[in-house]
Amino acid sequence: MIDPKLLNNFIKVCERAAFGASKFKGKNDKIAADQAAVDEMRSELNKLSIQGKVVIGEGEMDEAPMLYIGEKVGTGIGQNLDIAVDPLEGTNFVASNLPNAISVMAVAEKNCLLSAPDTYMEKIAIGSGYPESLVDLDFPIEKNIKLLAKAKNVSPDKLTACVLKRDRHKNIISALSSLNVKIKFINDGDVTGVVSVVDPTSSIDIYLGTGGGPEGVLAGAALHCLGGQMQTRLVLKNEDEFKRAKVLGISDFKKKYSITDMIKGDVIFCATGITDGDLLEGINDKGVYFEANSFVLHKSQNISKKVKNKVKK
Ligand code: FBP
Repeated sequence: MIDPKLLNNFIKVCERAAFGASKFKGKNDKIAADQAAVDEMRSELNKLSIQGKVVIGEGEMDEAPMLYIGEKVGTGIGQNLDIAVDPLEGTNFVASNLPNAISVMAVAEKNCLLSAPDTYMEKIAIGSGYPESLVDLDFPIEKNIKLLAKAKNVSPDKLTACVLKRDRHKNIISALSSLNVKIKFINDGDVTGVVSVVDPTSSIDIYLGTGGGPEGVLAGAALHCLGGQMQTRLVLKNEDEFKRAKVLGISDFKKKYSITDMIKGDVIFCATGITDGDLLEGINDKGVYFEANSFVLHKSQNISKKVKNKVKK
């Protein structure tokens, strides 16, 4: 079990990262926004009494100077934890001051989080309360939609699917359209897209499509806490990507991951809004302090809450 006292510390980490990135809202500079979020997140993580290891971060050591995969964070005294971070999820959103940018992290006990390479990953996700393994990445889209509609006792045209607007999704989109399913297109930010299937304030019934691998594990952490279902599979395109997956300990490159293949045991998920969005309001700079809104989950403690904090600058 992750020490429940650490929860507030992890919220602080996300709040600071979000505040760092928020200074670059609409400044058309996604690299600077990302760097600010990374700097803040790293500096806060290093204040914590933990023995943390980054298993999902900004890249491998040679390509990322900070929060690289394998980097040790924390004071080195305390619980051994695996940490997945995306200090700025939605770099384009911040650069253009558009909704739905968040700072997000997941924490599990040592060796309990999949270290996914920064490659693409196929994803399918639905909310809680359905029969086990209801949908499957290998079923045709039409079959998944009909099974979900049947389980909800509605017709397919009453369902809403969330899909990243990308050319690679044209077959998914035409299958959904043929069944008259409503589509909520997102331009970026599939952590929020996937998490929306378990957000009671959203109308999304299913998430479908291919996005980042690290983002898949982060979203899986939230679904693990809230009883959602998710299946993923890495999409490795060339020798370099296969090598990178291998270095992270992956040997079955075609494996279909369930949530518990990606996240074992207890987990904390925390996301803080940078710009206003579907899941969270963004950072509100009030001068001497800022307001931050976070979505916080701790599996073993049955904690699921949205918190608004006033944070001194
Ligand atoms: P960044 O914040 O790193 O820009 O990622 C945004 C994002 O939309 C993710 O949410 C998603 O998983 C991935 O990019 C999709 O990648 P691509 O833009 O290459 O389709």
